[in-house]
Parts: sequence; C-alpha cells; structure tokens
Amino acid sequence: MPDPDFVQQDFQRRFRNIPPLGMGLSVDVYSPNLFELENKLREQGLQPGYLEVFKATMTALSTVRQAIPDMSLAYHGEGLWITQPDVQDSPFFQQDVQEMVTQLNHLQSFWLNHECATKQMAGYSFGTYVPPLYTRLSAEVVAANIATVQQAMDRQGRRTDGTAPLFLLEMPPLTYFSAGTIPIPHFFRLVAGLVPCGLVLDIGHLWTAYRYTTACRRMSLEQFVGEFLDEFPLDRVIEIHIAGLACHESVGEPKREEGFPEWIDAHAAPIPSILFDMLEQVLAHSNLVSLRAVALEVDTKPIEMIVEEYAEAVRRFSSLVHQTMARGAAVGQSMELAPYPASVQAPVCQSDRQQLRDNYMRYAQIISGQAPMAGLEWQETAGDATGITRYHTCYLPYEILHWGGDLAEMFPQTCQALAERGVCLTEFVAFWFRSPQPLTHSYDFFLLKIERFLEFVAERAPEARVCAEQEGDILRQAYARANEVVEPVVEMERTR
Ligand SMILES: [Fe+2]
Repeated sequence: MPDPDFVQQDFQRRFRNIPPLGMGLSVDVYSPNLFELENKLREQGLQPGYLEVFKATMTALSTVRQAIPDMSLAYHGEGLWITQPDVQDSPFFQQDVQEMVTQLNHLQSFWLNHECATKQMAGYSFGTYVPPLYTRLSAEVVAANIATVQQAMDRQGRRTDGTAPLFLLEMPPLTYFSAGTIPIPHFFRLVAGLVPCGLVLDIGHLWTAYRYTTACRRMSLEQFVGEFLDEFPLDRVIEIHIAGLACHESVGEPKREEGFPEWIDAHAAPIPSILFDMLEQVLAHSNLVSLRAVALEVDTKPIEMIVEEYAEAVRRFSSLVHQTMARGAAVGQSMELAPYPASVQAPVCQSDRQQLRDNYMRYAQIISGQAPMAGLEWQETAGDATGITRYHTCYLPYEILHWGGDLAEMFPQTCQALAERGVCLTEFVAFWFRSPQPLTHSYDFFLLKIERFLEFVAERAPEARVCAEQEGDILRQAYARANEVVEPVVEMERTR
C-alpha cells in the first residue's frame, strides 16, 4: 500500500526536473506541415515554447528532430491501454512500451503524455478513444499500470540531463456518454494518490465532461468548472491542452432551440471562445501550482487558422501562463498540499482484475449496442439514454465504415461486388462487434480494418474474397510506404 505522502514527494522530485516551457502547440508529424507552420509563425513574430508531437514512426520523428534541433519537443504517446486490467498480459505490451521509450529518448521529451482512455477492451476494438469506467477499482488498475510504465521509463529513459521522463495522464473527452460510480475528478484524485504521475487537463475535454454528464442539467458551466477544479488534483497538472469542439459529421448541426450543442473533441475545428473563458478560470485557480506548459492542439487544422488562434492565445494568455508557472516555483518545497484519499491496495489482485475485465466486456457490448445497460456503473447513464444511443447508432457505425479509411474507397471493387450480391456494408458494423477477437498485432486501426473486412467478405461473399485480398494487399503496401516517407498515401485521420 503506497504512502500518499511518499507518492507526493516522489512526484515533487520528478516535477522539479521539468523546466517551464510556456505556450506551445501539439501537432502530428504528418499534419500540419511543420516546416511551413514554423515559417508562417516566424513571419508573425511568433515562436512556440515547445511542440508536443504525437506518436509516429521513428523515421518521421527523426526528420522532425533534425529539422528543428533547437525546439523543445514533448511526446504524446498512444497505444498503451493503461485503463485495461489485462493490458500487461498482451503479447505486444512490452514491445509497445519499448517503442515508446525509444521515441521519448529520441525526442528528449520531459514527459510521456497518454490519454486515460482506450481503443481496445476485452477483445473489442474501436477507432477513437473510449473513456475509462469511472470507478474506484478502475482507478486502482490505472495507477498500477502507470507505475509499470513509469518504472520502464526510470530504467531505460535516457535524457542527457540524467533524469527520466514523467508519465502524464490526460483526462479524456466524453463522446456523448460517461459510465461509472464516482465523479470524474474524484477518480483522478484516487489515481494521483497512488502513483506519482503528472496530469494533463484538456479544456475541451472538461467541457464534454459537463455536457455529457448530469452536470449540464444541474448547474451552470462556470459553477461546474469551479466545483470540478476544487476536487480534481490540480496540483498535479503539468500541462493544459486546448483544442476545437464541433458536432460530428454523423450527427449534424443542432437546431438553435436545443440548448447545448452536441459538440465533441475536434482538433480540426476552431476553438470556441467559451473554452478560452474556461481556460481563464482554470489558470486563476490557486491549486494550479505545477503548471509547465499550455498547448493548443492543432493537428489536422489549416495553418492559417493555427497561426491566427495561436497569436490570439499568446496575446490573451502568455503573461497569465508565465505568472501561473512562477506561482509554482514560489510555492516550492514549503507547499502544504491537501491530503489525497487513503491509498488502496496495490498491486491489484487477480480476481479484481478479472472483475474489471468482465465490466469492460459488458462496457464494450453496451456501447456497441449489443447489450442493455445493466450494473451500478450504468445507472446514471440509463437515466437519459440519448447520448449512448447517439454513440452506437450514429458515431460508432461512422467510425467503422468511414473514419480512418473509408471502406468504399479502400475496397471499391469488393464493395461493388458486395452490393451486387445484396450485402449491405452496414452489416460489417454488427460483424465487427459480434464477438471479442484475439490481438494479432500492436493496435493499428487501419490494419485492423483491412483484416476484419477480409474476414467479413470471406464469410458473407466468399466469391469476392480474392478481389478483397488483392485490394487489401495494395492498401497494406501503400500504408507501409506512407509510414516510411512521412507523406500519407491514404487519407488518415487521428483524434486524441
Ligand atoms: Fe488533449
């Protein structure tokens, strides 16, 4: 059972190694074009304090590192599904951790930022992040998995100053629903009491936590943010993210009289002014004493919009961000921190992990529309099923059929053959979620889509199988080439 004071001291020791980076941008090596972006920013007299780069191939990351040698680079990881009770049993976990450490070392990042979310649970795969079950047991499992990853970084992390990168856990967005038995900020308080990680607070994600819980029916946004920040372990927040919000293309724009828009996290969309107001409220909170960086997340956004929004953000927040970072330094060692909730037992025992695995199995089946909502963690969600219905009837089919590779474009001849035989593509969605599947490689949604589609065709239209395999081979080859030369051949999207 870890001593909460020891955990806090360990965090303080690690936190002191991270210098203030100020305002920066979170990007993808594939998009926007970083060299063009840097030039356009320079023309406006702007220089980001750092760039946070999303996981990519080593070739692509090396190109970026060499092209901007003086820029501080931070790392946004992907694919370590730390919310999952069985992630460490995956045959690919060690390999994924190793790859992540190699990339961290290459970039000389001060941290690994990773969403507290997953794209795979209990044998079911998704294209975009699915939030954790907000329960006490789930928090314990997240903390235990983070501890394992942090230990690997401590052993193998190679920063030239001799320090190890710190694990930063990002609060994920909600996409129409939330499930659990404890409030979201309490969940993160439990995790922070068990493991010396830092946190990333994403302002847009916070807006979705208001919109897709009962809070939006009970109180104003300002009151929600105030209460949330009082409970959230704000003293662990190292980085703040701010990005766009928009209605999803599968849902469409709301009618004016419908109240709050059904926005979800959308990095290509403009940052709504309401998020800047929320950012101001967050920066003003006295518990925010470990802030080191604030990034606009701009992957997939047009360069002109990035420059415009970044210039505006710097004008409005630069001095406030620097004051906030200085506040942490002034508080220093004498800081009195509110005690965290009592520690829970660690490591998590096998039967608890199995229990949570069963819960995630049911979670996957509920959100894919295969099982009715049942169990304590679904009680509140069941009170208003609009969001979960939106998720499995609109959002999820769009994800499987179109997002991260449109099937009709990927397999044009096969899709035509299927149509001629009266097989509707939407049947693929039910096929995808029909049963849990064993993992055959590290998570890659594009490759997974090809693999599952070939299985679907083999079952539903065996005579089109050869055609599908040929189209699949072409796609795999193009994808491998695209990953090596940085420029993607196929239209790929990412969301965080
Ligand atoms: Fe984020």
